[in-house]
Amino acid sequence: MQYQFSDRISGLKPSAIREILKVTQDPSVISFAAGNPSPESFPAAEMAEIATDLFRNRAGEALQYGMTEGYMPLRQQTAKRLREKYRIGTDGDDLIITSGGQQALELAAKVFLNEGDTLICEDPSFVGALNAFRSYRVRLVGCPTDELGMRMDILENLLKTQPRVKVIYTIPTFQNPSGRTMPESRRREMLALAEKYNVMILEDNPYFELRYSGEPVPAIKSMDVNGRVIYAGSYSKVLAPGIRMGFACAPREVIGKMVVAKQTSDVHSNLFFQMVISEYLNRYDLDAHIEQVRGLYRHKRDVMLDAIGRHFDKRVSVTHPDGGLFLWVQLPDGCDGFALCERAGVQKVAAVPGVSFLVNDEMKSPGIRLNFSLPSDSQIETGIAILGKVIEDYLKEVEA
Ligand SMILES: Cc1ncc(COP(=O)(O)O)c(C=O)c1O
Repeated sequence: MQYQFSDRISGLKPSAIREILKVTQDPSVISFAAGNPSPESFPAAEMAEIATDLFRNRAGEALQYGMTEGYMPLRQQTAKRLREKYRIGTDGDDLIITSGGQQALELAAKVFLNEGDTLICEDPSFVGALNAFRSYRVRLVGCPTDELGMRMDILENLLKTQPRVKVIYTIPTFQNPSGRTMPESRRREMLALAEKYNVMILEDNPYFELRYSGEPVPAIKSMDVNGRVIYAGSYSKVLAPGIRMGFACAPREVIGKMVVAKQTSDVHSNLFFQMVISEYLNRYDLDAHIEQVRGLYRHKRDVMLDAIGRHFDKRVSVTHPDGGLFLWVQLPDGCDGFALCERAGVQKVAAVPGVSFLVNDEMKSPGIRLNFSLPSDSQIETGIAILGKVIEDYLKEVEA
């Protein structure tokens, strides 16, 4: 059968990361590839107690259809926490619960971007978002970054010269894949540029509470007085990703459109788990839980950095992120991260080649992304030692 797939899906490649994850099902593979939180961080016992209670006492409500906007108590709790703790959201804003932060990004694209419109993003960037934008046949324009995130001089030039720019997509804190954080001054500059050139900012901030060192930086949304920022957040990294709970905070009118867009997709997010989270927030201290998770990941980050210090060739540079789940490893110019990941795969160590995150994935990237939240300490030590040897052999070959 010759299927006639739509243009919107025909041009999309399966996410390289999802493909790599298939390989990592093999238990003998040490995986630094996934973006998965550690199962140790899931509050499973607390959720079990709440779930039992809901099934016994509130099944009629929890298993019924719900509102597209989301379960009202959870919307209110989420909005209150964002506003009181982080000054995210104003009286003019509203909040929708989405199926993961991923859906918030997809809905923002659906609501704002026509085919052929331009979106500017960090290059490299989160491939899940890039594919969501690609599926709407949006023109993606990558803005180069330095150690402080997107370069504002280049962003302004792109805003001046690129046709039909409607949205800037940014992951300002512990960026995926680089692990880098944009300082406050640059965030203010980005907002000012968005005002000057009349474009929206889609701020994707799922990692910002996973900070292990350094000072917190305010969200761009907390500086937004004119309703120019759509803020996407998630419970995936602080509670559990399998429950698929995220949210968007944006001007009321924008959320209204996102609600209509969501109705055509999944009607509403899983009501049972919205109620589980809402009860979790009532009965437990999310901040205390996050503090524990921070301790766990701070340790793992340090174990990985320490192992890298001992095993990697000094010509390789590595980011030292203050939070999030990833390190970015940069090989010397001219090297190919993809070739390196292939060799590492043969040695049963999985990592994601930088090319997977590029706007133009036909290019070569000398980078690779390493995740430190999922592997155990001993897997980190063994896997980094293997990777160090693979890098050493690869560099010798490239030099020869
Ligand atoms: C930068 C970024 N944004 C959004 C997401 C989406 O996460 P979720 O849909 O699980 O909330 C991810 C997941 O890895 C991510 O890395």
